[in-house]
Amino acid sequence: MHRKPIVVGNWKMNKSPREAIDFVKQLEARVREFDSVDKAVAPTSLALTGVSDALQGTQLLVAAQNAHWKVGGAFTGQVSATMLRGLAQFVILGHSEVRAYLAETDANVNRKAKAALAAGLQPIIAVGESLAQNEAGETIDFVRGQVSAALAGISAADMARVVIAYEPLWAIGTGKSATSEQADGIIGAAVREPLRELYNDSVADNTRIQYGGSVKPGNMAEFMAQPNIDGALVGGASLHVDDFAALVEIAARVKGS
Ligand code: PGA
Repeated sequence: MHRKPIVVGNWKMNKSPREAIDFVKQLEARVREFDSVDKAVAPTSLALTGVSDALQGTQLLVAAQNAHWKVGGAFTGQVSATMLRGLAQFVILGHSEVRAYLAETDANVNRKAKAALAAGLQPIIAVGESLAQNEAGETIDFVRGQVSAALAGISAADMARVVIAYEPLWAIGTGKSATSEQADGIIGAAVREPLRELYNDSVADNTRIQYGGSVKPGNMAEFMAQPNIDGALVGGASLHVDDFAALVEIAARVKGS
């Protein structure tokens, strides 16, 4: 079984459309040779059209940072998965910042994941526990719960297009990453093993699972060397061309063949 490594840069609320286009042109030239790795940038929705146009015909893919489950309608401020068709290949759902600041629920993440799949997108479903939950020993149960809620009603066949990102909240933007062994153990127990029960061995063995939370060139190799970790969802370091290119290069070196 080979799971293609996947590195996604989540720019959050950074980079104007113009800055985003300049950036992806530079990045694309730097990562072109690493075709054993899937790589994508997630700019703000405002920049998706420009970035998508700039990357036409390249292997640097595009991710949206969120998408609503309805096709259209009276939903101020939202973008639907259907609207992202042709502009993005991936969509990040359930990011902890959306859960924390915009009251995202597991039920909505599930609706959004189904809508994204129906629109032909590949959802990247983010899960992860808080520091308090971690310290209380609740991590595995909590993350397992998030995974099974997010995937309710999604078929084994559709799971081939789902990516899961395990991001402990206490490691996001804090400079404090989980150790690679810790992350691997949690991913195994709270994400990959449950997929065996929810689906079957093939889904569990083939689903790509990223780690996220203060990933940078200096710690990427350790994470990529772990058996359950197939890539990274990266915030801060993805804002710099050199760092982003280094992350892709490391993913290719450690797990690209
Ligand atoms: P970070 O963000 O790499 O800046 O910690 C990760 C994320 O939020 O996906």
